[in-house]
Amino acid sequence: MADAAKTKFTPRVFSGIQPTNHLQLGNYLGAVKRFVQMQDSGIETIYCIVDQHAITVWQDPSDLRHATRELAAGYIAAGLDPKRSILFNQSQVPAHAQLGWIFNCVARMGWMNRMTQWKDKAGKDSEKASLGLFAYPSLMAADILLYHATHVPVGEDQKQHVELTRDIAMKFNHDYKVDFFPITEPVIEGAATRVMSLRDGSKKMSKSDPSDQSRINLTDDADTIAQKFRKARTDAEPLPGTLAGLKDRPEARNLVNIYAALSDQTAEKVVAEFAGQGFGTFKPALADLAVAKLSPIATEMKRLMADPAEIDRILGDGAERANAIAEPILAKTFDIVGMIRSQR
Ligand code: TYM
Repeated sequence: MADAAKTKFTPRVFSGIQPTNHLQLGNYLGAVKRFVQMQDSGIETIYCIVDQHAITVWQDPSDLRHATRELAAGYIAAGLDPKRSILFNQSQVPAHAQLGWIFNCVARMGWMNRMTQWKDKAGKDSEKASLGLFAYPSLMAADILLYHATHVPVGEDQKQHVELTRDIAMKFNHDYKVDFFPITEPVIEGAATRVMSLRDGSKKMSKSDPSDQSRINLTDDADTIAQKFRKARTDAEPLPGTLAGLKDRPEARNLVNIYAALSDQTAEKVVAEFAGQGFGTFKPALADLAVAKLSPIATEMKRLMADPAEIDRILGDGAERANAIAEPILAKTFDIVGMIRSQR
C-alpha cells in the first residue's frame, strides 16, 4: 500500500467498466471476479458503469441503455452485492464530469499523446477521433480521485491509465501546494490479468474484436462456450509439466491461465495436473469448467434483465450514495482551485 494511503487516506477501492457490447471472459476474470472478492476485504468498494467513457466512440442510444443494464446485471449475477458495494452509472453523478474538467486543465497534451489506448483506438486517422477519446484518461483519473480511492483493481491494459492518474494527483497536489489527492495503487493480480484472444495469442481478448470466436461472452450458452474452446487456436504439443515449458506457447499459456483463474488455482498447479496431456483432453475439461462457472451467472443475468426497473432503482440508489462521498471532495477541490461556490 502506498505511504500516502497508509498515513492519511482511508483505504477505498474504486473501479469501472465500459458498457459497450457484452461482458467477455477477460472482463470477468481480470475485473469483475476480483471486484467481488474485494467486497469481502473489509474495505469500502465502489464500482461504476462508465457510460460517459463509452460515448467517446459512437454508441447507439438504445444499445447503450441495454448494455448499461446488462453490465449492472452482470456485476450482480457475478456476486456483487449492491448493498455492500456501491454500484452506479457514472452519468448519474455529475461530479465525475466536473472534476474531469479540472483534470483536463492539470494533465498535459504530451501525457495524453503517450497513452497506448489512445493510439490504438484513434488509429492512423486521429484527426477524426473525438476530443472525448483524447481526454478519456483524465475523466478516468476523476472517477478514481473523486472518491479518494487508494486501490484500483484492473487488468494489465489499464495500468498506464492508473499511472497517469497518479501523475495527475501529484501535479495537482504540487501545483496547489496541498496533500489532497491520494497516490492511487493499481491492483493487478492473479492468473488472468491479461486474457488473450482465442484466435490469436498475441492479442488480448476484447469486447470489440470483430471475431466473436475470439472471446467467450458471459451471455454465451453452454454449447457456444464448448465450441469456442474446441476451436481455440493451439499448437500440437501436449502440455508440459512446468510453466517454463509454456514460454513460447502463448495460446497454450492463455488456456492454462484461464483454467487457473476459473478454478482459483495457480497456473503451476494446472500444468502439474495436466502434464503430458494433449488439447483433446484439456480443452473439454476447460469447457466443462467454464460452463460450470459461467452458466449460473448467465442464468441470473437473464433473470435480472427481466426487471429493468429494479436495475434502474439499484443504480439510482448507488448514485445517491456515490454522490454523498463525491460532493464534499468536489467542493473542497473547487475551493483549493479558487472557485467561489455561493451558499444557496
Ligand atoms: P474496460 O471496460 O475496457 O474493461 C473493464 C476491465 O476489464 C479488464 N479487461 C481485461 N482483463 C484481463 N484480460 C482481458 N482481456 C481484459 N479486457 C478487459 C480491464 O483491464 C478493466 O479492468 N478505462 C477502463 C474503464 C474505467 C476505469 C475507470 C477503470 C473508466 N474509469 C476507473 C478503473 C478505474 C476500461 O476501458 O475498461
